[in-house]
Amino acid sequence: MRVLAICGSPRKRGNSDYLLDEALKALEVYRVPYEKIYIADHAIYPCNACYGCLKNGRCIIRDDFAKIYAKIEKCTHLLIAAPIFFYSVPAQLKAFIDRFQALYVRYFVLRKKKPPQKKGYFFSVSASTQRDVFTGAFKTMDFFLRCINARIEAKLCVRGIEEKGDILRHTRALKQAYRIGKRIALDKGR
Ligand SMILES: Cc1cc2nc3c(=O)[nH]c(=O)nc-3n(C[C@H](O)[C@H](O)[C@H](O)COP(=O)(O)O)c2cc1C
Repeated sequence: MRVLAICGSPRKRGNSDYLLDEALKALEVYRVPYEKIYIADHAIYPCNACYGCLKNGRCIIRDDFAKIYAKIEKCTHLLIAAPIFFYSVPAQLKAFIDRFQALYVRYFVLRKKKPPQKKGYFFSVSASTQRDVFTGAFKTMDFFLRCINARIEAKLCVRGIEEKGDILRHTRALKQAYRIGKRIALDKGR
């Protein structure tokens, strides 16, 4: 079992980061090792649609993407946290996700063999309390997870969370995040 956690917010110790940490706390309690990455700490260029990946399903841009991609390839459980920015995910995370076009090409165009299925978890927060505020981000995450052959196991999305640390007053959401982490820690099908 290899657990990778990705924080997609550029705001460290922000709401989605805290939510993610709450799930990771459960892993610590159950002594399950994990690795956590902040996407914003890495230099990741956006996809420029060169389609260099058509050759072998690999992205030809040289930056930090390959390093993080290698971690994703090896993980069995992938946790992603991100706030809503303009009905989608922050640009830093979106740029990272767009680079998985190379994997789309690898599995769905070149028909190469897919790796074993992973389990995916999405944590999000929005300032708005609108019902459909997460719809855009869900579509993005669903397609991204399909590209890496991951099945979405749980989504935890909390509305009405705006200022840094607002989520800390939302004890129900924190408990839900912890429960997701505990489920991962006790996952039998590792
Ligand atoms: C650039 C930007 C765009 C945002 N767009 C939205 C939006 O479309 N809908 C919304 O409900 N909140 C929006 N927000 C608010 C954030 O989702 C909210 O403040 C969230 O709690 C930030 O989470 P974080 O602390 O994990 O970064 C936006 C914030 C920023 C900085």
